[in-house]
Amino acid sequence: MSLATPHLRELADRSGLLIGTCVSANPLLKSDASVYQQYQRVAAEQFNILTAENAMKFALVAPAPDVYDWTVADAIFEFARKHHQKVRYHTGLWYMQTPAWLNTQAMSLSQIAQTGWAFIEQTGRRYGETMYCWDVVNEALNDPPDAGLWRDCIWLQALGPDYVAQAFKLAHKVAPKALLVYNDYKTTFGEVKADRQYDMVRGLVDRGVPLHAVGFQTHLYDGQIPDGNAITANLSRFAQLGLDIHITELDVAIGKMEGTLEKRLERQARIYQVVLEACLRVPRFKVLQTWGFTDRYSWLPRFLKYPDEAGLYLDADFQPKPAYRAIHKLLSKAGATVDRR
Ligand code: XIL
Repeated sequence: MSLATPHLRELADRSGLLIGTCVSANPLLKSDASVYQQYQRVAAEQFNILTAENAMKFALVAPAPDVYDWTVADAIFEFARKHHQKVRYHTGLWYMQTPAWLNTQAMSLSQIAQTGWAFIEQTGRRYGETMYCWDVVNEALNDPPDAGLWRDCIWLQALGPDYVAQAFKLAHKVAPKALLVYNDYKTTFGEVKADRQYDMVRGLVDRGVPLHAVGFQTHLYDGQIPDGNAITANLSRFAQLGLDIHITELDVAIGKMEGTLEKRLERQARIYQVVLEACLRVPRFKVLQTWGFTDRYSWLPRFLKYPDEAGLYLDADFQPKPAYRAIHKLLSKAGATVDRR
């Protein structure tokens, strides 16, 4: 069964918004199961921007030092081209999913530094003209209450405390047309970490570092209905720095909610609705991406260790849940609130 028209991407197009998802390489690119065909049809039909869930991460594109294998990344770019979709390159420097060969004792810090810069350069040279945006740095901030701005990681150790700024400068040099994004989690609601992120980002902007947008991952696990006004206020202060606002990885777990499944799905829909409504009030809000679109393919059951976890807005059979209807409804009147073109 198809989802009702107009599709999400048509509604988003009308108001100058991008609506997207991360995509898993197997169901997107293989054809040996009918469920894959269904996945591909929905991915093509509903979204105007895609992100690879894993396929473009450093570990996945660099099988050995100085060796890049872009086969899967290329195929995702090709899928997007065929369906007139934009691509977010995810991700550049990140402390996780770095190649195994990078983590060995065998390399010196200066060799590791070289590989980091080379990854940015290679990515920019290959996709700088075709990507829409690029999460140049992902999750570089320390989680409160840990002191210190930067997360202690391989990049901080190898590249030094100015590595985030330098990564953006290099990315801009090799991909001058790409929209460059800083992406992180637990920064959507005005949390302590959001303040940290705000100060950090403002510092970069003040120095003229080429940073164009902030990605707010927005993985929501606790089942609480957020305060929409707090979200709008928080995102607005970033927008006032001249930056675009992207929600990059939204999903809403139901595992901590009480009541029947029906009640929990209603509550989930309410959370999606409060978040999107709050974002739509921010004129520079440009992109809404969820971390998947069907509960059949979601990182949450494994990550949250709850096999029945169902954080997305289509069920495992690609059928709409209340959250889908909430998003659809809001997008259909989004153009009336703010024209983002
Ligand atoms: C996750 C993927 O969904 C998983 O398949 C993988 O095992 C680990 O990474 N923040 C990010 C994403 O920026 O890249 C992560 O994706 C989820 C959290």
